[in-house]
Amino acid sequence: MYVCLCYAITDKQIKQAVREEGVGSLRELRKHLGVGGQCGTCVQMAQSIIDNTIIDE
Ligand code: FES
Repeated sequence: MYVCLCYAITDKQIKQAVREEGVGSLRELRKHLGVGGQCGTCVQMAQSIIDNTIIDE
């Protein structure tokens, strides 16, 4: 499922960034994948995916 349409980033890519690249915050995610760098519509959803992925670990 696409989370960030501006950068065409899916939930899978976000989970992978958290698990494999140590991304732990929205700011880091933006650095890695660009998520939230344009319109900002995706930030809430992206944040909850980060949180849930960390909890799952
Ligand atoms: Fe992510 Fe626009 S949908 S910045």
